[in-house]
Amino acid sequence: MKQYIHQDAWNIIEEGFEPHLHKISESIFSIGNGRMGQRACFEEAYSGESLQGSYVAGVYYPDKTRVGWWKNGYPEYFAKVLNAANWIGIHVKINGEVLDLATCKVENFRRVLNMREGYLERSFEATLQHGQRVRIHAQRFCSIVDDEAGAICYRITPLGQAARLEITPYLNGDIRNQDANYDEKFWEPIAHDVQGSEAYITMETRKTAFQVTTGMAYTVLQDGKVLAPQTTTSEATYVAATFQVQAPAGQEIVVYKMAANLSSENHPKDQLMAHCKAVIARVAQKGFDGLKQEQASAWAKKWEENDIIIEGDVSAQQAIRFNIFQLNQTYTGEDARLNIGPKGFTGEKYGGSTYWDTEAYCIPFYLATAAPSVARNLLVYRYRHLQKAIENAAKLGFKDGAALYPMVTMNGEECHNEWEITFEEIHRNGAIAFAIYNYVRYTGDAAYLEEYGLEVLIGIARFWAQRVSWSSDKKQYVMLGVTGPNEYENNVNNNWYTNTMATWCLEYALQSLQTVQKANATRYQELLHATHFKPEETTQWQHVIDNMYYPASKELGIFLQQDGYLDKEQILVKDLPASARPLNQKWSWDRILRSCYIKQADVLQGLYFLEERYDIDTIRRNYDFYEPRTVHESSLSPCVHAIVAAKLGDEQRAYEFYLRTARLDLDDYNNDTEDGLHITSMAGTWMSVVEGFAGMRVRNGQLHFAPFLPAKWKAFAFKIRFRGAILQVHIDQRQVQITNISVRTITVYVHGTALAIAAGTTEGFSQELIKA
Ligand code: BGC
Repeated sequence: MKQYIHQDAWNIIEEGFEPHLHKISESIFSIGNGRMGQRACFEEAYSGESLQGSYVAGVYYPDKTRVGWWKNGYPEYFAKVLNAANWIGIHVKINGEVLDLATCKVENFRRVLNMREGYLERSFEATLQHGQRVRIHAQRFCSIVDDEAGAICYRITPLGQAARLEITPYLNGDIRNQDANYDEKFWEPIAHDVQGSEAYITMETRKTAFQVTTGMAYTVLQDGKVLAPQTTTSEATYVAATFQVQAPAGQEIVVYKMAANLSSENHPKDQLMAHCKAVIARVAQKGFDGLKQEQASAWAKKWEENDIIIEGDVSAQQAIRFNIFQLNQTYTGEDARLNIGPKGFTGEKYGGSTYWDTEAYCIPFYLATAAPSVARNLLVYRYRHLQKAIENAAKLGFKDGAALYPMVTMNGEECHNEWEITFEEIHRNGAIAFAIYNYVRYTGDAAYLEEYGLEVLIGIARFWAQRVSWSSDKKQYVMLGVTGPNEYENNVNNNWYTNTMATWCLEYALQSLQTVQKANATRYQELLHATHFKPEETTQWQHVIDNMYYPASKELGIFLQQDGYLDKEQILVKDLPASARPLNQKWSWDRILRSCYIKQADVLQGLYFLEERYDIDTIRRNYDFYEPRTVHESSLSPCVHAIVAAKLGDEQRAYEFYLRTARLDLDDYNNDTEDGLHITSMAGTWMSVVEGFAGMRVRNGQLHFAPFLPAKWKAFAFKIRFRGAILQVHIDQRQVQITNISVRTITVYVHGTALAIAAGTTEGFSQELIKA
């Protein structure tokens, strides 16, 4: 854990340059706009450790699988969102010496991520090896208004004495992914062009043939006058313009660089260059200040919609805003072809691919903070991959339209290549079905089932019905050889969570068949026909539902994570020596597998999803048993525990888990922020506040709250969209106040009491009543 980020309600602030923290900061200070993302690398050269990372949404490469021992059914490749052309680069030489923070003395270094207005700022003073001092001030952002564009303003001031500056804004397409399996290059040059004050390169990905045209317009100003470059360079993968400037001491030289990244996913290849030129012309016309102003207004609107305000705890306030900010930078929901990689655009780990994280953790955030179309697009993404999921299941020996969604995917095909996860971590199918349920429950849009949802549910239900085996010993269905959400157990039999989600999926599919049949008989027939559905399938589903085996310990009154879990030596996490943690770095895999330690919520994940089925004592017993055995070595773990702890009234624990999820990256809790931010768990942070502290749930189409105020906070407030209404919820020590910012009355429940809130009014619920 590191605590070098200064606390501030709206800004992420780093002061002083510490090279060993630089890669962590490159992740934390990342900027993005849903179409592209950029790590907080330096514009100027840097010979120290860095991951120069620039990513363009939807542009990936199928990197040939690398495994020790090939198993039938493994995918051929792992799709990776590619590190693309460097659009931020500005080489600076001072009196002939390269400005490089690894080789000069750095003072007054300050890096700020301004979350309110959506830009990154950096300033420092450097003393170069030959003694010249300079001051640098740089600002940049990825525009959320013109989402193919980014802009940089870079200011250089010689200090103490005049200096000869050589300034080279450039684009470099010769980029590799650091995580390439075979150290291959993924890009080929296609075109390059330098004209006037603009330059362009087009690169094409090998195999997938995506093209990306990156363009820039540059302006260098001295004393308000635009300078002309002395030379330009136009090479296959590198375009640049070099300016020689003699600057007196104290004179600020200003470099503006407007850039754009356009991909062939969004433009015909033969028009990419022309379209890129049009974007560059548009943003150059708006100018840096115009674009920055536009950016600030667009961010103000976003914050208006989904800020969470925490009074009395600046560390918590900064953290929640950071999580919301990064989620908004990653996914906007405008494009159903895109999804949310666990690291977003902030690093290469996980390849930018889609995991169950989206359905299990991100959907609730987007449901409550954005138009329903946003969460819907995330569901439609999986609908579009249904055929591939059916093919994936067929590869593993399933038939008749059974669908197994991939553990990791870009285009619907499985990319993961460890048998214990690829073939066994099949619970992801459950999360995908649950997301459909969650969407319909939240929005009331049952028509989604007719249009897309039911087909997916049928495919998933068929998979479960085939994946179970009949145990003639138990006279029940069992599920053999699986990995639950807790990846510190592999190839177990009867993971309670997987068995439970499997039968839940079967029940929901049966229910949804009836819903669609009632609502739209014609569409129902169409769907039966399209899926070759046979009525006897439902009989078999029902048989599985009625006869599933769920491991449990009667004596302890808990569900068992899997068969035989109690055979393990039961030493609690608190009794482990600190030197053993994190287990995944300190212990052999064999030792982890034989231990009782749990990576992330497993039984508790099921109790979180399906809480209405279980009484509070059952939830408590399971929580009290499993949490002390959980090491939370997945970023996805603390949020679920925060929510369940809050439900159980354990305010202290709920708050501790909140802090852990909220500041996970800011404080580099798991020592891995340098690989990129934990974007999907950031949605879990939001859930910890809204579903945890505010206790928000949807039951029978209505919103319920069961709030408490963490002891350290004076108040907290957030906005929720719900079925056409916008509600502002404010919770302090005295009361819960809900303002209805919409045109119709809405009834919500606070601790079970109905409050009818007329349009434009506020209703309060005294906290005294809660305690009484
Ligand atoms: C977790 C998975 C998760 C993946 C990507 C793993 O460490 O165990 O549940 O899907 O990370 O976030």
